Amino acid sequence: MQQEKQQIAIFASGGGSNARKIIEYFKNSETIAVQLVVSNKKDAGVLDIAHASGIETLVIHRADFAREDQLLTELRARNIDYIVLAGFLLLVPTYLVAAFPQRIFNIHPALLPKYGGKGMYGHFVHEAVKAAGETESGMTIHLVNEQYDKGDILFQARCTLMPEDSPEDIARKVLALEHRYYAEVIEKTITETP
Ligand code: GAR
Repeated sequence: MQQEKQQIAIFASGGGSNARKIIEYFKNSETIAVQLVVSNKKDAGVLDIAHASGIETLVIHRADFAREDQLLTELRARNIDYIVLAGFLLLVPTYLVAAFPQRIFNIHPALLPKYGGKGMYGHFVHEAVKAAGETESGMTIHLVNEQYDKGDILFQARCTLMPEDSPEDIARKVLALEHRYYAEVIEKTITETP
């Protein structure tokens, strides 16, 4: 008997380069399908990427994320099995964590537990890493719980930093690791979940 595909919803607030990689990776997958892209910003670049790939999109305003009925109804109507955060900058509300226990992935552009928590996202992370004079950085893929950047870590990858690297250079090195590994780790975790 043929297994049904696991359905993913990607949540993203920005440009969506990770979302693009994930959409491309699963385009011909027999086990996983990207069904929906959700954003809290109506002009987020990720929405264009989704449209170009024929993937349905949903814009939910910041205040409405807190309202349990709307988003959960939309996700259930589409039989979503997993949520993938890809540059999603709002705290995931507790009702969503409860509805998708150990089924929400996040990627963070540093080696957690360092440089995580509220306010630590995007360029703020790389500026803090630079200011601390770190000789390495990297990225962390983890499951999401009720606290920013605190869920179980699934995978980390590291890159070496040079003293002359700017925050932008660090961001480039880290993003290359994100693009290389995120979809693979999602696939491995989903296909190995009983
Ligand atoms: C990525 O570097 C991701 O790790 C980071 O935002 C960027 C999004 O890029 N996420 C966070 O900082 C979450 N705390 P993208 O829109 O090009 O995928």
